[in-house]
Amino acid sequence: MKQRINLFIFSVLLAGALFSCHNNSDQKKVEPVSPDQMSKEITKTLPATPEKVHPGKAVFTQYCLVCHQADGSGVPGMHPPLGPGSWVGRDPKELVAVLIKGLNGKVEVNGEVYNSFMPSQAQLTDDEMADVLSYIRSSFGNSYGLVDADLVKKVRSGK
Ligand code: HEC
Repeated sequence: MKQRINLFIFSVLLAGALFSCHNNSDQKKVEPVSPDQMSKEITKTLPATPEKVHPGKAVFTQYCLVCHQADGSGVPGMHPPLGPGSWVGRDPKELVAVLIKGLNGKVEVNGEVYNSFMPSQAQLTDDEMADVLSYIRSSFGNSYGLVDADLVKKVRSGK
């Protein structure tokens, strides 16, 4: 019996405590938000850094996309694809040479034969060539090593 009374008193106290707590928070004054605080809140919701876009993507879009397509799938019978199984996985020196000299003659990619012509891309700077090759080697399902501008410079100067 005594225990029950104790429990009852305890419950009443607990309910009282909870209620007063609840009341307190209800009565809390809402401070107006200052413009400074507001701008802080807004910047908090923005992503800290914008999505990283590969620098070679812009070069690709300007100089290669028209033939090889945005997804590197090429055009059947005309422009070969650049995905897995293409020359893109070959020695980077060979790729630099293709960009500098262009390509003319029979090219086989994944069992398809292309006998077409790719114009030289020698107008690209060493950095642009390194960037675009790095981009295609890490896009369209490829995951080959990146190419740096020093290698482009070497191949261009015939070293
Ligand atoms: C005018 C169309 C055209 C443009 C522009 C062009 N290519 Fe090509 N590319 C071709 C054709 C056509 C071939 C195959 C040539 C042949 O049949 O002898 C080829 C072949 C290739 C190959 C070797 C074959 C393969 O599919 O792996 C690579 C790599 C390549 N191009 C990359 C590039 C890159 C990178 C650019 C931009 C800097 C570019 N091409 C711009 C048409 C083009």
